Amino acid sequence: MNNWFEALPGTLMAVWNRLGRAVGDPAAPMNVVTLATVGRRGGAEARQVVLRRADPEAALVEFHTDTSSDKVAELTRVPWATVLAWDAESRFQIRMRTHVTILSGDASRGMWKGVREGARRHYGANPPPGSPIAASDAFEQRADPAHFAVLRCIVQEIETLNIQDSIQRRAIYRRGDGWQGGWLVP
Ligand SMILES: Cc1cc2nc3c(=O)[nH]c(=O)nc-3n(C[C@H](O)[C@H](O)[C@H](O)COP(=O)(O)O)c2cc1C
Repeated sequence: MNNWFEALPGTLMAVWNRLGRAVGDPAAPMNVVTLATVGRRGGAEARQVVLRRADPEAALVEFHTDTSSDKVAELTRVPWATVLAWDAESRFQIRMRTHVTILSGDASRGMWKGVREGARRHYGANPPPGSPIAASDAFEQRADPAHFAVLRCIVQEIETLNIQDSIQRRAIYRRGDGWQGGWLVP
């Protein structure tokens, strides 16, 4: 039998399997991924975020953040983000181009209920994230549902790179053609 990375459907399945396994498992290689946005000064911005949901049927991934964070301001301006993930063991990179909807207020209330008690204090810092402060601890952590946002990233394209000793395989899948996929020169 062929290895999963030798066929387009197997490679796409590996994407969603790995992302699915990473949700809720801090030990999984793709539990923390890089979220890149268009910065307000025009260049790229990137930061690590915890993967909170991966839904292969809807082809979406979700992240949690504070409504006052820079990334929310950036995504309000340009609602496109690239998600980058790397599994060192299987030497597999996933790059996803996504269109982002920011869910907050009533739209995120249901998901707030699913946030662990201990994690809620990450949403609602006073003063808000990124504010200059006189000392590293000169801020207050508050669990404020009004500051809780879910970044719902609707995947438009998935690009993969699998690195084997003898060969690299790069593939691209697009929502527009039903994810049939094709190979690219690595
Ligand atoms: C391992 C790790 C996980 C993180 N997870 C999140 C997260 O899930 N959500 C979030 O908003 N920030 C998370 N952060 C912090 C962000 O990387 C970033 O520093 C912060 O959100 C401010 O980013 P911004 O100013 O670009 O909005 C995480 C950082 C690390 C190192």
